[in-house]
Amino acid sequence: MSNKIHSLSGYLYEYQKSIANPEEFWADVAERFYWRKSWDKVLEWNFEEPKIQWFINGKLNITENIFERHLFTLANKTAIIWEANDPNEPAIHLTYKQLYEKVGQFANTLKNLNVQKGDRVIIYLPMIPEAVVAMLACARIGAIHSVVFAGFSANSLTDRINDCGAKVVITADGSYRGAKTFPLKSIVDEAVEKCKSIEKVVVFQRTHETVSMVAGRDIWWHDATAGVSTHNEAEEMDSEDMLFILYTSGSTGKPKGVVHTTGGYMVYTQYTFENVFQYKPEDIFWCTADIGWITGHSYIVYAPLLSGATVVMYEGVPTYPHNGRFWEVIDKHKVTHFYTAPTAIRALEALGTDPIQPYSLKSLKVLGSVGEPINVEAWQWYHTHIGKGRCPIVDTWWQTETGGMLISPLAGITPTKPSFATLPLCGVQPVIVDDKGNELKGNNVEGNLCIKFPFPSMLRTTYGDHERCRQTYFSTFKGLYFTGDGARRDEDGYYRILGRVDDVINVSGHRLGTAEVENAINEHPLVIESAVVGYPHDIKGQGIFAYVICDSSVTPDRYENIKNSILITVTKVIGAIAKPDKILFVSGLPKTRSGKIMRRILRKIAEGDANNLGDITTLLNPEIVEEIKQKAGL
Ligand code: PRX
Repeated sequence: MSNKIHSLSGYLYEYQKSIANPEEFWADVAERFYWRKSWDKVLEWNFEEPKIQWFINGKLNITENIFERHLFTLANKTAIIWEANDPNEPAIHLTYKQLYEKVGQFANTLKNLNVQKGDRVIIYLPMIPEAVVAMLACARIGAIHSVVFAGFSANSLTDRINDCGAKVVITADGSYRGAKTFPLKSIVDEAVEKCKSIEKVVVFQRTHETVSMVAGRDIWWHDATAGVSTHNEAEEMDSEDMLFILYTSGSTGKPKGVVHTTGGYMVYTQYTFENVFQYKPEDIFWCTADIGWITGHSYIVYAPLLSGATVVMYEGVPTYPHNGRFWEVIDKHKVTHFYTAPTAIRALEALGTDPIQPYSLKSLKVLGSVGEPINVEAWQWYHTHIGKGRCPIVDTWWQTETGGMLISPLAGITPTKPSFATLPLCGVQPVIVDDKGNELKGNNVEGNLCIKFPFPSMLRTTYGDHERCRQTYFSTFKGLYFTGDGARRDEDGYYRILGRVDDVINVSGHRLGTAEVENAINEHPLVIESAVVGYPHDIKGQGIFAYVICDSSVTPDRYENIKNSILITVTKVIGAIAKPDKILFVSGLPKTRSGKIMRRILRKIAEGDANNLGDITTLLNPEIVEEIKQKAGL
């Protein structure tokens, strides 16, 4: 394949080219794909509105670039190796031809259910091949998918369905996760009660548990697809037609629907996959993310399949039925590329090396990390015990909003340093600015990480609310896309991501807004007010620390009970991933004279540091700080 980089000097050369003339650079990459009609202009943009358009008036269908483009050569190549939660259930190998037929059939099925180009479809499924089939079937007919992680609550699902006005939900009776099963269909039933836009619910049978089916609304996947043709003529899409919406948390209460469009997302994700992982056709690529997150979208589904790769998709959890399951799967399927999150690495590291011993891991060539900063110790452990000192690690920094990786080593090419995402990928122009927005030029600087020029897969808008997109990402620093992350550029020009500088916490690689968690806690009838901050957590990266003010009628002997019911409330409102790790009951929160909570102080106390609280004399209620310190045992 053409645009593949093979050496450090090649990277430096290509990078310079991509900055000097981005349009020529990306046109060259994009030409490798199958466009029904080529673009008239490569790029138009401004970061004020913002308006970002790539490959203008180009016409294509992304699934034709996965299937038709490859079918002559790859028809019998395995596209997906599916590994079930239960190791005794046989793995499924789906070839490109088989996947193509399933996608075609489900595309026709969606059409039969009256889903048309531009309609929104919610996918709330376990990690099963049908999740990929459903996504690609939507893309095939031009419907916009919005995958919701199947660990989110009914309430979260309702919000997402209503925000995008989805017509159809695709779900399963239930899902297997380790020793547990989750009743997905009944969660959907509860969610859909409050959604006027939903016309149909398609249910895949996975766990065979009894579910109720609403006549006229609910239909089994196997019934809906029975006898339906596998041949589907792909819908012609404009390069800037929406491909999907993916909801993600920000500083404000409500998750926003990040919108990605077709052409730019296709070109950029495939380009980064091939270069960062140094992909070769014989490789077996395993990304452990859930399909409900951007990592699953871009690097389980779209980029690998656009590259004609074989991917492993795993239904279960790292430690079921035993602590060596990940390593067993690597040996079993001869995985060459393993891409996971630091939180998983730290959790597995905590189990010691015994679970690794039975496995050779000799098929591995490249290791990847994503989702949160990887600490030096976890990096070293990953390198030594999983990569056996011979596999390069790519620490890939990116976001839901960026669609693809932005700062990352190229495997085996870019010299790595533990905990550094290293250098920007081609076409990516990062800048570090101070709090006033002044660019900090040169090396050895630290500040807010921004991007100053568009790359093809950046978000275009937030669904239904363009102003929110402008305010969140393009208004903090004039003329720049603000990532929400802090970063340091060291003496070699290498980037180290320092974590979020806004009110977002990253718990086990999952993004949660503090306001979102506070709103959930405040739903508890006995809670008057709460404040949530992140604190360093050995396994999760960050844990959630909640300061809670209860109704004055509550006596301390009831705190334990209320703690438990707060956890239940949060699980119900958002999902189990948002449960606070620590809850401290307090009688007040430190506030400024304008009524704003001084989170800086709460963060310090949550970190266990009571000595460097800074100036507290400007507080409305400085005495509360002493009380909170005492209650926190400081
Ligand atoms: O803070 C950064 C962190 O995850 C955030 C993006 O989260 P999300 O949109 O859920 O996407 C996660 C998967 C791409 C970023 O703003 N983050 C992601 N990757 C890294 C990271 N922090 C440090 N190093 C990384 N490699």
